[in-house]
Amino acid sequence: MCGIVGYIGKQEASNILVEGLSKLEYRGYDSAGIAILKDNKLDVRKYKGRLAVLKENLDKNPSKGNVGIGHTRWATHGEPSDVNSHPHANSSGNIAVVHNGIIENYIELKEKLIMKGYKFLSETDTEVVAHLVDMYYEGDLVEAVSKVVKDLEGAYALGVINKENPDKLIAVRKDSPLIIGIGEGENFIASDIPAVLKYTRNIFIMEDGEMAVVEEDNIILMKSDGTPVEKEVYTVNWDVEAAEKGGYDHFMIKEICEQPKAVKDTLSPRLNKENQIRLDDISLTKEDLEKINQVYIIACGTAYHAGLLGKSLIQKYVDVPVIAEIGSEFRYNDPFIDEKSLMIVVSQSGETADTLAALRMAKEKGARTLAVTNVVGSTISREADDVFYTWAGPEIAVASTKAYTTQLVSLSLIALDMANKKETIQKEEYNELIEELRLIPEKLEDILKMDDSIKELAKEICESEHIFYIGRGIDYDVAREGSLKLKEVSYIHSEAMAAGELKHGTIALIEDGTPVIALATQDKLYDKTVSNIKEVHARGAKIISLGKMGNTEIAKSSDRVIYIPDVVDDLSPILSVVPLQILAYHVATLRGADVDKPRNLAKSVTVE
Ligand code: M6R
Repeated sequence: MCGIVGYIGKQEASNILVEGLSKLEYRGYDSAGIAILKDNKLDVRKYKGRLAVLKENLDKNPSKGNVGIGHTRWATHGEPSDVNSHPHANSSGNIAVVHNGIIENYIELKEKLIMKGYKFLSETDTEVVAHLVDMYYEGDLVEAVSKVVKDLEGAYALGVINKENPDKLIAVRKDSPLIIGIGEGENFIASDIPAVLKYTRNIFIMEDGEMAVVEEDNIILMKSDGTPVEKEVYTVNWDVEAAEKGGYDHFMIKEICEQPKAVKDTLSPRLNKENQIRLDDISLTKEDLEKINQVYIIACGTAYHAGLLGKSLIQKYVDVPVIAEIGSEFRYNDPFIDEKSLMIVVSQSGETADTLAALRMAKEKGARTLAVTNVVGSTISREADDVFYTWAGPEIAVASTKAYTTQLVSLSLIALDMANKKETIQKEEYNELIEELRLIPEKLEDILKMDDSIKELAKEICESEHIFYIGRGIDYDVAREGSLKLKEVSYIHSEAMAAGELKHGTIALIEDGTPVIALATQDKLYDKTVSNIKEVHARGAKIISLGKMGNTEIAKSSDRVIYIPDVVDDLSPILSVVPLQILAYHVATLRGADVDKPRNLAKSVTVE
């Protein structure tokens, strides 16, 4: 969690840092700060609260200088407060540090430093780094930082400046993302590309254990032990507007509306006219697939919900058992993994700690690994054997929307490709599914036109205390995603239940008027779901059903019905989730919630 940014050049660093931090707020936003070097002074400003608080302070009292580092925080060690905000400085105020990650052995390091007379001001793990740099500094900042990282255990992307070396900033990474932006007469460091995209498209993506010495006209790349490193420049091929709001009130609704394009971008390059699938560089052959006797799909949150569809499709069409599990539980359940296992990890950010840990565990045990991710150069993309990118473009809102639908499309393509290679799917069925996939972007456009009517629906339920989502089979998977979307942005308590399970306990919570959102898009489960809808309707629930165009039976037991375009059962989640995303968005905005940055959440969860 947390976002870091750094600048060295000729412009006012504070403007660039604040601008960069505004693009990183999705990584955390409970405090923000900068440290600027100028005229042999280090000026540190840091405040609890959103970036706006820091900005207001800088507007009143500018911090002038051309070198600096900045940070936006998602608290782990120590509550959100001014003093716990980054940057952290050494006691003499010469050295400033920003950090994303967790220093796991900070208590031990802190005790040692205290014994040596160092005084700590904050409760953070990061402050040890500032004092360690101080301890090791003997005139060479690069050497000092190299020594510091030898002492550190855990995850870090660090930016370090020292007033005695005003011509450089040092950046180093291990298990937390870090990029270097290459400018002309100026250079940048950042946790993510959007922070520097206004200034440059040329990027170095840092790997674990690498360090960069960033100067105005020069970037020296090395391992943190000083061994030189050569790296290719990655040129960003998407626009800065893609990471900005572009006329929408919020990123969440912008990203919901971008889904037809995101799905098309994910799908089209992978399909040729003959309906053959090209899975980029995925090197899994028919022989490899035949050896695999167990597939694991591991992910967290929304990505896990996408993984559930992957499980259904692979199990059904590829004829291999699939276990889908959340990352934070998987490793502790003594999973049986060996070289005949395939692990598919799904992660928008490609940085989620629990998903990454599962991937590493699978690799250690000799399993084949495949990542479905949205972020090029992310840790997960680099560590997996094969990568399939969801071409959703940058997703800024904390609530995942277009990443989810593109993950569904990606997993569908992967499942169909595997089935085709293994010859476990009939040609006609394969072609039918591919043709259906091609029609999805158009159908998504139709669903987006329902925005006004869904807003009216939102008005009817936005005051509710509890809202339940029910469904059977893959409708239940989508119900889970709909429920997560609603609760995370609106703060209404919500639960998703398998429709048939409701009467085994949860139905006791249904009172007169309790909203129940019932998904009934599966032809083969339609009658059974309709019966479950009737059960809750009879107990006074306000039923909002979601069904396929033409399936009008549900209307008889529903107060409202949302119809999605007709679609083959297996792919219905890619459509049915969208009205639920729109509903969550409108409920949240009607309640005045900060939809793009819900409380207590961060976009990229790099802690376990
Ligand atoms: O970046 P990832 O896809 O690995 O993130 C996993 C979850 O934290 C994420 O899907 C989260 O549940 C969503 N932001 C919720 O909308």
